[in-house]
Amino acid sequence: MITDLNEVPRTAVTDRFHRPLKDLRISVTDRCNFRCGYCMPKDVFGKNHSFLSSNQLLGYEDIERLVRIFSKLGVRKIRLTGGEPLLRKDLEDLVSKIAGVAGIVDIALTTNASLLSHARAVSLYEAGVHRLNISLDALTPEIYEKINQVPAPLEDILDGIENALKVPYQAIKINMVVQKGVNECDILSMCERFRGTGAILRFIEFMDVGNHNRWNLDKVFTAKEMADVIHPVYPIEPIKANYRGEVSKRWKYLDGQGEVGIISSITQPFCGDCARARLSAKGEVYTCLFASAGYDLRPLLDSQLDDTEILQKLHHLWQDRKDRYSMDRLSQGDLKPLGRTSQKVEMSYIGG
Ligand code: GTP
Ligand code: 5AD
Ligand code: SF4
Ligand code: SF4
Repeated sequence: MITDLNEVPRTAVTDRFHRPLKDLRISVTDRCNFRCGYCMPKDVFGKNHSFLSSNQLLGYEDIERLVRIFSKLGVRKIRLTGGEPLLRKDLEDLVSKIAGVAGIVDIALTTNASLLSHARAVSLYEAGVHRLNISLDALTPEIYEKINQVPAPLEDILDGIENALKVPYQAIKINMVVQKGVNECDILSMCERFRGTGAILRFIEFMDVGNHNRWNLDKVFTAKEMADVIHPVYPIEPIKANYRGEVSKRWKYLDGQGEVGIISSITQPFCGDCARARLSAKGEVYTCLFASAGYDLRPLLDSQLDDTEILQKLHHLWQDRKDRYSMDRLSQGDLKPLGRTSQKVEMSYIGG
């Protein structure tokens, strides 16, 4: 049985730039109870927005089958995302199924923590989730509400984080998307709150994913600017990545209070080592966060094809992959989004 992240199966695949396929992010729902402006702005994802119906969602048996096939192509890590994954019924059943797939050595979950009771934090852990990423963009209630656009009180999220911290997760990371002029003023209070707690705080550059978040370069608070805010107050120094291709640059507090991470998708992209595929809630595979179209697996799953035949199709898909959106954008000389005629997929549809 494979127990090592670096062990490569015989049927593993690499793409046109020799990047392996190691990491599969699975969106289990396109719905969310939040309306963060950078992801699902309220004016677009309002009452008239049509979300997927439950019979359009890929069932847990199909997801398990695909995870088994992906593991033969080299996938070792699974991240469950959404929308908000805790809105999907009986998520723990899916986690247990995935945990039973040979070759999967790591299951992580990205959540907004609004539904993360202590009981839920325990049941997810027991089912096999061992790492949690929790989105939290501000500690000032007015800023928090302005970003997330929902009535859920900040206290509920902080309770969710506390609930998670009581369970022996291998890692709990707090993700803060920093938008210039909106929440950079909370960077230091976020450091203060999470230093020494064991949770790893990560600051993320605001990205031009999807089509509706009104991104422009003036709203990007850069990785350098983030470090420049933190260092004078809480001195930090860079430390080694945990593994090749880690998206977050790690920094440790010099006073021993743990580490923070900075994710520089805009100013220092990391496409060169991108080993991530994404599966939408409806069953399409996306080979880049900025792709316009996915490859629909539903017809294959509903057909008479066996696992080996589906594996062949996915093998070809990854072999032909040449996505590197963020690097291509950087190399055009300015940081404007790449000119495209087709719409990009929404992040709430394929997960972070
Ligand atoms: P793993 O340890 O690999 O499971 O992930 P992580 O905990 O380091 O974080 P995660 O991959 O969830 O990424 C955090 C944030 O980085 C995401 O929410 C995105 O904002 C950004 N990000 C992650 N993957 C990509 C990617 O492939 N491309 C780009 N442009 N940004 C990404
Ligand atoms: N820019 C950067 N990160 C984003 N996320 C969603 N939208 C964006 C964006 N426009 C990421 C955040 C959030 C996770 C669910 O997805 O990290 O915490
Ligand atoms: Fe929901 Fe997460 Fe998107 Fe916010 S970032 S709207 S919590 S999926
Ligand atoms: Fe991977 Fe696309 Fe993100 Fe580059 S922009 S790191 S290729 S998902």
